[in-house]
Amino acid sequence: MRVGQGGTGPGAHTPDGSAVELYEVTPPHGDDELIDAAIEPGSSILELGCGTGRITRPLLARGHQVVAVDESPEMIARVTETETICSTIGELRLDRQFDVVLMMSFLINVADDEERLRLLKACAHHVRPGGSVLLQQEVPGTRLAPAELENEYRKMVVSDVEDFPDGTQAATLTHTIGGRTWSQRIVTRNLSEDQLADELTRTGLRRTEYLTPDKMWVRAQPV
Ligand SMILES: C[S@@+](CC[C@H](N)C(=O)[O-])C[C@H]1O[C@@H](n2cnc3c(N)ncnc32)[C@H](O)[C@@H]1O
Repeated sequence: MRVGQGGTGPGAHTPDGSAVELYEVTPPHGDDELIDAAIEPGSSILELGCGTGRITRPLLARGHQVVAVDESPEMIARVTETETICSTIGELRLDRQFDVVLMMSFLINVADDEERLRLLKACAHHVRPGGSVLLQQEVPGTRLAPAELENEYRKMVVSDVEDFPDGTQAATLTHTIGGRTWSQRIVTRNLSEDQLADELTRTGLRRTEYLTPDKMWVRAQPV
């Protein structure tokens, strides 16, 4: 497990505390549609942190070619429809570049600044000139707070929120789907617009667009 993170509930958990069985039963919630609308038809995509392929499969179905990467052997074993690579993102160095590098699921909000730099360097290394890095981040300026969210698919409770002096936060996310419950302790750093811009610059990328009005989805491109 990574420092300060962990998961409980049925089935295997990844080093960041994500539950394999939870992601197996979670629908795409329209994320594939948003990504598809932001990229060219038939794009080559390197998907970093693909999990069980929740978004991989719909992107393949939309005609893109996806290479799916995850550090969890249990997660990536569920992705059988395309090329997969079991690796940490920071250490990944393929001698191939892609039209699109996709790193969603708030991986960019990792609390460790050095690790974030490693993630962004991996993104920059694998995107072709003129290509796009698509990032999903916590909405800039927001803070985690206790909450209960429920829709037709699942219930999610945010609890035990802790604020640390360095600006990072920890919280427990508890998901219930179909009578099964999983909890994940997360540690996260919300990035200001300037901070993300600076960190992108350090890796040879620049933010060229927000894909959503709330600034949760970001397009960055090689300088
Ligand atoms: C919250 S899950 C989301 C999976 C998928 N993106 C989705 O939306 O369904 C995050 C995934 O990222 C993977 N992950 C997190 N940090 C990673 C890292 N540094 N290197 C490789 N995989 C990582 C975890 O193993 C997990 O499968």
